[in-house]
Amino acid sequence: MPSTEITIRNVTFKNPVLTASGTFGYGLECEAFLDVSRLGGVVTKSISRKPRDGNPPQRIAETTAGMLNSIGLANVGVDVFLQSKLPLLRERGATTIVNIAASSIEEYCEVLEMCEEQEGVSGYEINVSCPNVKDGGLNFGTHCPSVAQITRELRRRTEKMLAIKLTPNVTSIGEFARACEAEGADAVSCVNTFIGMAVDVRTRRPKIATITGGYSGPAIKPIALAKVYEARKAVSIPIIGIGGIMSAEDAIEFMIVGASLVQVGTALFIDPAAGVKIAAGIEGYLAEQKMDSVRDLIGSLDTSMQPSLIAAGWS
Ligand code: SIN
Repeated sequence: MPSTEITIRNVTFKNPVLTASGTFGYGLECEAFLDVSRLGGVVTKSISRKPRDGNPPQRIAETTAGMLNSIGLANVGVDVFLQSKLPLLRERGATTIVNIAASSIEEYCEVLEMCEEQEGVSGYEINVSCPNVKDGGLNFGTHCPSVAQITRELRRRTEKMLAIKLTPNVTSIGEFARACEAEGADAVSCVNTFIGMAVDVRTRRPKIATITGGYSGPAIKPIALAKVYEARKAVSIPIIGIGGIMSAEDAIEFMIVGASLVQVGTALFIDPAAGVKIAAGIEGYLAEQKMDSVRDLIGSLDTSMQPSLIAAGWS
């Protein structure tokens, strides 16, 4: 059997497929559909210091080839998460990556420090890229010195895997990835959602209450792939590829472009077990291609010119 394991820092993921933050709750809501220990990992909904109600409804709207959301980081807060969610994830054998959101650097640090004291946290993904909140979110994520400072402060506080989740809503994602690498991040997650909008033409009202939201799903996959490609050229730390992955083939594309792990998000709204199925599909592909390890896929993109074109005089 080909090896599907990927190690980042001190975490070995049994396969490269994780659930994307915010699309799988705290990893327990979908238990009727799958065994979470079969996933590469579960990335939790963003956790903040205090519980958050999030934005007013309507918070989600389906579009032709994707989904708009404006949840506003609704979550139970770190105390409840650590008391009543994390122990269950640990019992189920999930590899748990805690996604942290905050409106100040101090809040990021406090939440991470509280998680540090607990068993069952494999690592962190830091949300500096939520497009749906006034404080934090894109204020941080589109300002490179802030992203660097957050990474630096958190790195000083943990030996666990630290990934920074980047926004695509910047001119150069490579610059942000480089700042994370320079400050000691173990990985960058590329990408969070794109700012988008939808309008109900009968009422002429925006389809979601905050007018704009974060756009995800198959429509963004080619754009997300290009962002991963740009980040790959900018840094040598692992990249976690995210954006419209609906099938094993989509996930494999991200890995060929340079992602070490992938996250599945919008697809889970159609099939909560999509992550496990995509992991099985990747394994099937490795066997079919007679590859020994999924690691051989990472960054295996061939950009050389085809011999027939060279023979025809193209260069
Ligand atoms: C939200 O809670 O609004 C979405 C989170 C995100 O996009 O980071």
